[in-house]
Amino acid sequence: MAKVAFIGLGVMGYPMAGHLKEKGGHDVTVWNRTSEKAAKWADQYGGKHAPSPREAASGAGFVFMCVGNDDDVRSVVYGEDGIFAGMDKGATLVDNTTASAELARELAEAASEKGIKFIDAPVSGGQAGAENGALTVMCGGDQADFGEAKPVIEAYAKMVGLMGPAGSGQLTKMMNQICIAGLVQGLSEAIAFGQKSGLDIEKVVSVISKGAAGSWQMENRHKTMNEGHYDHGFAVEWMRKDLGICLAEAKRNGARLPVTALVDQFYAEVEAMGGKRWDTSSLLALLNR
Ligand SMILES: NC(=O)c1ccc[n+]([C@@H]2O[C@H](COP(=O)([O-])OP(=O)(O)OC[C@H]3O[C@@H](n4cnc5c(N)ncnc54)[C@H](OP(=O)(O)O)[C@@H]3O)[C@@H](O)[C@H]2O)c1
Repeated sequence: MAKVAFIGLGVMGYPMAGHLKEKGGHDVTVWNRTSEKAAKWADQYGGKHAPSPREAASGAGFVFMCVGNDDDVRSVVYGEDGIFAGMDKGATLVDNTTASAELARELAEAASEKGIKFIDAPVSGGQAGAENGALTVMCGGDQADFGEAKPVIEAYAKMVGLMGPAGSGQLTKMMNQICIAGLVQGLSEAIAFGQKSGLDIEKVVSVISKGAAGSWQMENRHKTMNEGHYDHGFAVEWMRKDLGICLAEAKRNGARLPVTALVDQFYAEVEAMGGKRWDTSSLLALLNR
């Protein structure tokens, strides 16, 4: 059992912190910007909540965070009430936020100057994965630090991998999002095509999902897409944040991402249709407009 802090109790963080308490059996203290959520979490799981990230992190062996973007991470890590101000030397900071690789390297360096260990650890698996404690966790950091943190992370994961030095977890998540962007556009075009052809989409998917075109998105999203429902899963505004991170990294490393850039523009159009909070399969709504 470890003393653990969790910062950021959103859709993902709330259940992840719950698994650290219930499944991991750890002594968990949480902090959330909107303090009602932290009080609710403490009531529900029997843990503690602190008045600032600094106080939550104080005395913890492992500090987790899962907030929105790079700026949000900086705002909870730095400053006199920030995580770094409370953390002890030798403790480990694990960032589950999907953020840039640059930020991960910056935090690793700043942590190292304070004698703190750092692991970037973005996740995949969505709200359901977080609630079921079955996330895929892509880590970047030092091998020995990862070895210590892995058994703690496993409380909310079904797969935890070290991909390389600091930033490698975020780069891996970028590959994940690049795969999804093109794939969901392809799936949307196929469903729109099938609908226009008068095919029974359910019947078609029951056959082609078993062949080379099959995918998680096809299995899990075709039914709601065919019905025109886009109100679950990963929001378009989060996807645009992630694709922005991918495109900025590609500018730095010279990779070409023509389809990713195009799909990002399609998502911008979905947002203009009022779909900021629709899930990512809403690319179909654009084709069927
Ligand atoms: N949702 C998914 O399916 C999914 C899947 C994989 C990865 N992710 C990634 O996981 C991260 C969190 O996603 P989520 O869906 O849990 O988001 P969310 O429900 O919007 O929650 C965001 C959390 O971050 C906190 N926060 C945001 N900005 C902050 C700031 N400046 N200072 C302090 N706290 C701040 C929020 O506090 P308040 O409660 O006060 O607003 C909330 O606790 C994102 O990076 C997202 O891309 C999400």
